[in-house]
Amino acid sequence: MAWENILFEVHDQVALVTINRPKSLNALNPATLEELDEAVRRVRQDDAIRVLVLTGSGDKAFVAGADISEFPKMNPLQARLFAQKGQDVFFGLEDLPKPVIACVNGFALGGGLELAMSCDFIYASEKAKFGQPEINLGILPGFGGTQRLARLVGRAKAKELCMSGEMIDAATALQLGLVAKVFPAETLLEETMKAAKVMAAKSALALRAIKTVVDRGMDADLKTGCALEVEAFGLCFASEDAKEGAAAFLEKRKPHFKGSFTA
Ligand code: COA
Repeated sequence: MAWENILFEVHDQVALVTINRPKSLNALNPATLEELDEAVRRVRQDDAIRVLVLTGSGDKAFVAGADISEFPKMNPLQARLFAQKGQDVFFGLEDLPKPVIACVNGFALGGGLELAMSCDFIYASEKAKFGQPEINLGILPGFGGTQRLARLVGRAKAKELCMSGEMIDAATALQLGLVAKVFPAETLLEETMKAAKVMAAKSALALRAIKTVVDRGMDADLKTGCALEVEAFGLCFASEDAKEGAAAFLEKRKPHFKGSFTA
């Protein structure tokens, strides 16, 4: 499949998708969103891919937002459709049953931060910068930023970031719980791919269950979330992977999980 704005590689069951518009700091235009959507569907369908890593091309940006050069030609209806498209693509990413890691190598602003927050967690370079600067353009985030940021860092901090347009560095993002780990810029991709490959060897059913239970549980009350956990825990015991996991532990060997994401 020929894509113009993204690169797609697979290394040892890990798909590496790179947003590749470095001259625009990897800004998301409609064509890039469309290609990302197709890439996500490919990851969903390909059983040989067990983890997705998303990053940006070059050493300056992950994604510096939606492509602002598209804005002057948009009427309100087109702007609404653009926001809806972004949200649909990001929900597609969030709903992938496989782990998705954002590898944030530079600016993650506006749509870039919204994209990163739609992943399961963020690994960032020490040089990364995060923000929702839409307020400086006289608009607000449109790809889910107001909602996901508030859920990740709390209501007040999310409002402060969206209302000020302030950029924060990787250390601050780590402190806020927005970022899971920070690495030196030179080793970020290598460390992220290493972590992704470790995860690729885990049980597919258990990974999928963790993702669903955490995500659905966060949108529910504690008892509903815990009830989902109980059901998922029981379901895991129906799998060969759970038998293999316990057997390998008791036999003091490494487990070999064979469960599939698509079966
Ligand atoms: N959309 C379109 N183009 C963008 C872009 C965006 N979101 N972000 C950066 N670019 C382009 C710049 O226009 C510039 O293009 P040019 O070389 O043709 O002039 C190029 O990427 C490099 O950006 P530049 O601004 O020169 O780099 P910088 O290091 O001085 O500043 C940023 C980097 C990220 C601080 C700055 O580019 C910026 O504020 N970008 C917009 C961020 C934003 O508001 N995002 C939310 C959009 S809704």
